[in-house]
Amino acid sequence: MKTPLKDGLQRVMKENRTRFHMPGHKGRQDFFLPLEWDFTEIPGTDDLHDPNGIIQASQNQAARIYGAKDTYYLVNGSTGGLQAALLAALAPGDSVVVPRNAHQSIHYGIEFAGADPIYLMPLQEKSGLLAGPDPVLFRQTIEAKKPAAAVFTYPTYEGVCWDLQSLIAICREHGVISIVDEAHGAHFSFFPSLPQSAVEMGADLVVQSAHKMLPAPTQTALLHRGSDVVPEAWIREALRRTQTSSPSYLLLLGIEEALHWMSEQHDPEELPALEICREAIRALPGIELLEGKRQDPYKFLISALGRGLSGPDLVQALRASGVEPEWQQGDLVLLMGAPYQNRADWTVLAKALEALPIGDDLNGDSIKPWMIQEIPERVMTTLQARRAKRSFVPIEESIGEILAENLTPYPPGIPVILAGERMTKEIALYLSWLKEKKGRIIGGNDRISIVCE
Ligand SMILES: Cc1ncc(COP(=O)(O)O)c(C=O)c1O
Repeated sequence: MKTPLKDGLQRVMKENRTRFHMPGHKGRQDFFLPLEWDFTEIPGTDDLHDPNGIIQASQNQAARIYGAKDTYYLVNGSTGGLQAALLAALAPGDSVVVPRNAHQSIHYGIEFAGADPIYLMPLQEKSGLLAGPDPVLFRQTIEAKKPAAAVFTYPTYEGVCWDLQSLIAICREHGVISIVDEAHGAHFSFFPSLPQSAVEMGADLVVQSAHKMLPAPTQTALLHRGSDVVPEAWIREALRRTQTSSPSYLLLLGIEEALHWMSEQHDPEELPALEICREAIRALPGIELLEGKRQDPYKFLISALGRGLSGPDLVQALRASGVEPEWQQGDLVLLMGAPYQNRADWTVLAKALEALPIGDDLNGDSIKPWMIQEIPERVMTTLQARRAKRSFVPIEESIGEILAENLTPYPPGIPVILAGERMTKEIALYLSWLKEKKGRIIGGNDRISIVCE
């Protein structure tokens, strides 16, 4: 047998680029544990799905670190954790308030729970970046629709934080379960000067990816119960539905090792150094560092249009300087650092940006991911749309049609339109533009499926 996967990864590794993308361990090998550490549920190894030994002791420590009532180790990413949280919190027919820029895992979780979503478009900051929902509109929606739960994305993929505390307070006042997708915020609790974690703010359920911002392997994540509003037994049961019955001990150990490192070895002094790097980037001519009012400093969202560089040109130039970014769309490029990163990497990044050539793209791309501000008409439920007879059309011919499948630019995995919704001109134009730029669209790379009415 040939080994295309291994060969391909080796080719990428040989490029030896500094990793400004997930996972948060950045490819450093310190935590690698050989297969002799991988077990199954035998005497002495405990059982993730019914823990009362070493796994439980490890999870209890994690709960103490984060200030949670209890914490669950996850081996199917935040995806499995968010879906379990939704399955535990919602009964079929319940309604749930969801930010329109929610990750696909949340939309799927709502679908699995048979719940009814009420979408809210998040507020946009001066930089253009999306933040959280408008508190006034949120309160009105809660009072009018009486949902069982509300989901929040905090921080966003780009690292924008916002006043989540007020929204959690509104939820509490109205008996609404607060579920926070904190996939990108597992490091907050380790730094007093970073935005506060949703667990500390008193959210009922919080899900964090360990693999995004902590030095942990891909797929690892944490679910925290911040209150007793959703009973522990319901969470355990839901986790059995969304995760494998054979959780990898290497992944579980990866979570513990990452938390151990964060607790004992990470350098809290690194934030001032990181700020110096950001300051240097802000001062570079022709480079824009896009930030939220409250920003995770590990995320660098950059446009170099002021130097005549399109997004693909910027990526190419960064690669030539040995830097591999996380994401590019239009003129924007996201570079994702993490606490485990070598300090020297930030200098590599700042130098790579300083050395950018001058290009000749003077117009750039006027389309930005946050430009879609409309919520399309929902004609039928997601499930009805998935089960309906379908046909396949190019995006341009789908305007006015009902989608049979979600269309999700990836990364970051945020659907722009969901199954059961009617395609609008604005969304079709956005998707066509993305396709023309060779962006990946899950569900829409080729022809897209629509419901035959
Ligand atoms: C905001 C957000 N939520 C949830 C997820 C899902 O996380 P995971 O990849 O750990 O399943 C992602 C993944 O990128 C994300 O960006």
